[in-house]
Amino acid sequence: MMGLSQQTQFHSESPHMATNSKKILILAGDGIGPEVMTQVKRVLGWFDRRRNTGFETEDELVGGCAYDKHGTPLTDQTMEKALAADAVLLGAVGGPKWDNLDFSVKPERGLLRLRKDMALFANLRPALVFDALAEASSLKTELVKGLDIMIVRELTGGVYFGSPRGIETLPNGERRGINTQVYTTSEIQRVARVAFELARKRSNKLCSVEKANVMESGVLWREEVQKLGDTEYKDVQLSHMYADNCAMQLVRQPKQFDVIVTDNLFGDLLSDCAAMLTGSLGMLPSASLGAADAGGKRKALYEPVHGSAPDIAGQGKANPLACLLSASMMLRYSFDMGEEADLLDKAANNVVARGCRTGDIMAPGCTLVSTSQMGDEILKELDRLGA
Ligand SMILES: NC(=O)c1ccc[n+]([C@@H]2O[C@H](COP(=O)([O-])OP(=O)(O)OC[C@H]3O[C@@H](n4cnc5c(N)ncnc54)[C@H](O)[C@@H]3O)[C@@H](O)[C@H]2O)c1
Repeated sequence: MMGLSQQTQFHSESPHMATNSKKILILAGDGIGPEVMTQVKRVLGWFDRRRNTGFETEDELVGGCAYDKHGTPLTDQTMEKALAADAVLLGAVGGPKWDNLDFSVKPERGLLRLRKDMALFANLRPALVFDALAEASSLKTELVKGLDIMIVRELTGGVYFGSPRGIETLPNGERRGINTQVYTTSEIQRVARVAFELARKRSNKLCSVEKANVMESGVLWREEVQKLGDTEYKDVQLSHMYADNCAMQLVRQPKQFDVIVTDNLFGDLLSDCAAMLTGSLGMLPSASLGAADAGGKRKALYEPVHGSAPDIAGQGKANPLACLLSASMMLRYSFDMGEEADLLDKAANNVVARGCRTGDIMAPGCTLVSTSQMGDEILKELDRLGA
């Protein structure tokens, strides 16, 4: 088995938060969110029955559905529940119904508030290619077969949040748009530590990406990451790369990378670029982690990379694997359940390898299945593997 299952769980001193409590807040959201989340709940139920995992789940609304009921995409009560949970699992938000709402109550604001109030500064985006899907990539099969990289993107700083920002009118009548790229040492160090720890649990290789050739914030980024490498993580093979070169290398020879750590802007672009190497949005999970508390426990949000896919919502066509693989990341990173996460990853891999496909990953000779049939197959495979 390739992919996520190669990663073993973190130690308790690492980004991982070992805990006995397993309170999961489920925010299925809009569009295909509830459809894919239904399959995740079935799988969590399987683990509870078969492995006595003791998950306590609670459902709440986020996004357009929350706006329809409460006039806001995320109520304060739901926010409190998210802060109190050991992990939050999110489906997707948004859809044409809410496109014309005021910016302050758009469905996406619910998601942004969750990320902000939970102070989720590290976004983990694995890009992995199931062997059976290697041919679906836009790159040559041999370039992506067995690909398993992890991009760690800084999520709460940088140019998306820096000030000054805005659009101003100059004395000559011209307008000027301003955004500021800004990072402090602590912001760089905390996300780099997450990446170093991940590298230790994988191939011990970390590539830090910035534009130190033209940006002072990039010079600082490089220096701070190198300092950590020289002091706390001497065992990790650290390299640095300019972001433009990284974009080229990702499509030239993606398997040269293992863990990549980068800032908010470059991470936004590079993680989408890496994602497309894998063929389908319906296969891509993500995790967002906050700071560790005194007990080593981190706030964490897990969600598929895809959106609410209004074009296929309500038709049983959605691929639930991205959401299921997000749940697998939750098992691994929030609950120290590496063995169970491996089992779920393996079940997903085997089912896809057997030719069981939703429309987005369909190929000649394979069997087209619905969202719930994909869930049925995963459960059958879990029964077989975990018997
Ligand atoms: N994190 C989020 O909740 C999130 C992320 C991106 C977009 N959105 C929102 O989702 C809505 C639709 O956005 P979009 O169309 O740009 O992106 P999208 O990811 O929803 O869909 C893009 C394409 O991929 C397909 N697709 C996506 N997920 C799939 C799955 N699991 N199985 C099969 N096919 C899948 C869709 O059918 C569509 O053709 C918008 O309102 C947007 O704001 C939300």
